[in-house]
Amino acid sequence: MTPGSSLEAARGVLEARLPRPPRVHLVLGSGLGKIAEQMEESVAVSFGELPGLPAATVAGHAGRFLFGELAGVDVMVQSGRLHLYEGWDEATVAAPVRLARALGAEILLVTNAAGGIRSGLEPGSLVLIRDHLNFQLRSPLVGPVFPGEVRFPDMTEAYDPHLRELASRVAGEQGVVLTPGVYAGVLGPSFETPAEIDFLARIGADVVGMSTVPEVLAARAGGMRCLGISLVTNLAAGLSPEKLSHREVMETGDRSAAVLQRLVLGILAALEGRE
Ligand code: HPA
Repeated sequence: MTPGSSLEAARGVLEARLPRPPRVHLVLGSGLGKIAEQMEESVAVSFGELPGLPAATVAGHAGRFLFGELAGVDVMVQSGRLHLYEGWDEATVAAPVRLARALGAEILLVTNAAGGIRSGLEPGSLVLIRDHLNFQLRSPLVGPVFPGEVRFPDMTEAYDPHLRELASRVAGEQGVVLTPGVYAGVLGPSFETPAEIDFLARIGADVVGMSTVPEVLAARAGGMRCLGISLVTNLAAGLSPEKLSHREVMETGDRSAAVLQRLVLGILAALEGRE
């Protein structure tokens, strides 16, 4: 199969079903699933219906897209992310973003759960990703250039400065603290060792998580603008006496969902108003 052929098939399936193309691809991290309930007259498509996309398996994630309007913006909401640690290859993990772009989306808005490294980032804190460190050491861009992408994408402004400014403004208006920070993407699925967290802290990471980097790499190669927000669900390993657990991640996600959801809706509304 040539690169992109299954995606072309998936695009065909979707274009036949969608009233309008999406403008924003919104990837929901842990705890944000409820945002989908705000969508009216949305079209739901599970991953399994689309060539090139598998069903997601990790606990707490349902793999589907919802197409419709949120805060006045045509969005493709992805609930259920594909992670490298599940064993999917890089191309599969990046397939939703590439599909979104093929459908016409210009903006990738990713949310994720992350461990807080920098002091002051506690469970419930929100971080505006200003840059990332790729400790997954893998990339969906390896191999033949994917149709519509460039070989050597520039990553100096991977997280779009204008979108970051807009998100900060909206957070300020909502009275929400949104701290800029660097996201270290790791492979997982084990949480980090305290020594790894110490290392990440020293090289400038503020939060750590197991997603986001492959999606942003594919988005940038395709010319999409990216905005990323991390919800800190736990202190990173070794920074608290507690042991880390997936349950804690999910519970903090659920508790803080309302604030993050309102922020995301505010950002979408601001996009609609200004750009
Ligand atoms: N480490 C890696 N990924 C995570 C964490 C963490 O502490 N919390 C949520 N996702």
